[in-house]
Amino acid sequence: MSLLCTTFVSTQIIMAPSKFATVESAPPIEVFALNKAYVEDTFPQKVNLGVGAYRTDEGKPWVLPVVRHMEQKLAADETLNKEYLPVLGYEPLASAATCMLLGSDSVSLKEGRATGIQCLSGTGALRVGAEFLARIGNHSVVYSSNPTWGNHSLVFLNAGFTSYRSYRYWDAAKKALDFDGLMEDLRNAPENSVIILHACAHNPTGVDPTQDQWKQIADLIEERRLFPFFDSAYQGFASGDLDRDAWAVRYFDSRGFEMVCAQSFAKNFGLYNERVGNLTFVAKDRSVIEPVRSQITLLVRANYSNPPNHGARIVGTVLNDPVLIEQWKSHIKTMADRIISMRHGLRERLEKLETPGTWNHITDQIGMFSFTGLGPLAVDKLIADHHIYLLKGGRINMCGLNSGNIDYVAKCIHEVVTTTQEASL
Ligand SMILES: Cc1ncc(COP(=O)(O)O)c(C=O)c1O
Repeated sequence: MSLLCTTFVSTQIIMAPSKFATVESAPPIEVFALNKAYVEDTFPQKVNLGVGAYRTDEGKPWVLPVVRHMEQKLAADETLNKEYLPVLGYEPLASAATCMLLGSDSVSLKEGRATGIQCLSGTGALRVGAEFLARIGNHSVVYSSNPTWGNHSLVFLNAGFTSYRSYRYWDAAKKALDFDGLMEDLRNAPENSVIILHACAHNPTGVDPTQDQWKQIADLIEERRLFPFFDSAYQGFASGDLDRDAWAVRYFDSRGFEMVCAQSFAKNFGLYNERVGNLTFVAKDRSVIEPVRSQITLLVRANYSNPPNHGARIVGTVLNDPVLIEQWKSHIKTMADRIISMRHGLRERLEKLETPGTWNHITDQIGMFSFTGLGPLAVDKLIADHHIYLLKGGRINMCGLNSGNIDYVAKCIHEVVTTTQEASL
C-alpha cells in the first residue's frame, strides 16, 4: 500500500459532530505571532526586534564555530550510537553545567549537596523543577516578577501550582527596578512560596538587582521562609563573563540556601532548537540528593522518558574540554560585545536626534533585551507604519539591530515618539 495520503471524499457517511466542537481557540503566543507577521511582511527594510535569538551584524543566525566543529567530530565518530540516554540525561553535561553555574569553589558541590539533571532546555528545566516542587515538595504558590518572561505562568500552572502571583519589578516612571515594591511584595508572600528569580539579564527589562540588593533579597527570602527558583537563561551571554553572570546564584549558594535553578544553553551556545538544559538542585543535606533524583526520575519517565543526546553531547564535551571551552568563551564574548555596541549605538543616535525622553536606560540595561519604555501607540506605529516588529510591552531584542538598520530604527523611534507624544511606559 502506498504511504502517500490520497484525498477521500465520502458522500455516504453522515458524520457526527466532533466531540471537540466546543473547543475554543487558545490565544496566540505573542512572540511567535509577531515573527509570523514579520516573515509575511514584504517591505524591504523590515526589522525584526521581536524574536529572542542572536543575529550577526549581517542579520543572520549564528552557528558558533565550536558547535560546527563538534558536530563534524560527532558525525565522524563511528563509536557513537543512537541508544537511549539515561532518564536524567548525559552525566558529563549535567555535572559540567552545574559546576559552570555554581562555580568550582562551591561548597555545596564539594559536599555533594548539589546535583544536575539534563532537561529540555530552560523551559524543560523550569517545568521539571516546578513539577517536582508542586507534586513532591507540596508547594502551591509561585511568584514571578512583573513583568517577566511570557512563559513562566504557563509552565508553573501546568506543572501543578495553583496560585501564580507577581511581585513588582519595573518602575515605569524611573525606567528602573522597583526595588521597594519588590521587597514589599516578597515580604507579604506566604511562607513556602516559590520565588522565580532571573539569574541575570532579566527578561524583558534587562534590569538586574545590584549585588547589595541581591543580598537584601536573600535576607528576606530566608527570613520569610520562601523558596528561591532561579531561571538562568543567559549565563555568559549577558556580560560576556560566565562568573559575573552567575554572581546572584553563587551568592545564594554560598549562604547555604536550598534552591533550584533552570539553565538554558539556547542562547549562550546558540543551540535554540537542540533543547539543551540543566536543572541544578541544591540541598542543605547530601542525604536528600538520592531520593530527590529518584523522584525526578519518575517525573521525567512519565513525561518524555529521557532527553535527546545531540546537543547535550556538544555542550557536555565543550564544557569538559580545556581548549574548546576557551573557544566557546570567546564566542560568548563576541555575542555579548555586539549587543553592548548596539546599545551604545542606539542610545547615541536617539540622543543626537534629541528624541524626547531619556535614553540612558538603553545602555544601563544588560543582556539581549531592552525595555525601551515605548508605549502602545508608539509600538503600534513602529509596526504598522515602519515595519519594525517589537513586543507590545516595548521590549526589543538588541540583536535585531545591526549596522545596516540601526539608523533606520533610531529615525523611526524618533518619529513615533515625537508624533505620539505618549508618556513612556
Ligand atoms: C527568562 C527565560 N527563561 C527561560 C527561557 C527558556 O528558553 P529555552 O527553553 O529556549 O531554553 C527563556 C528564553 O527566552 C527566557 O528568556
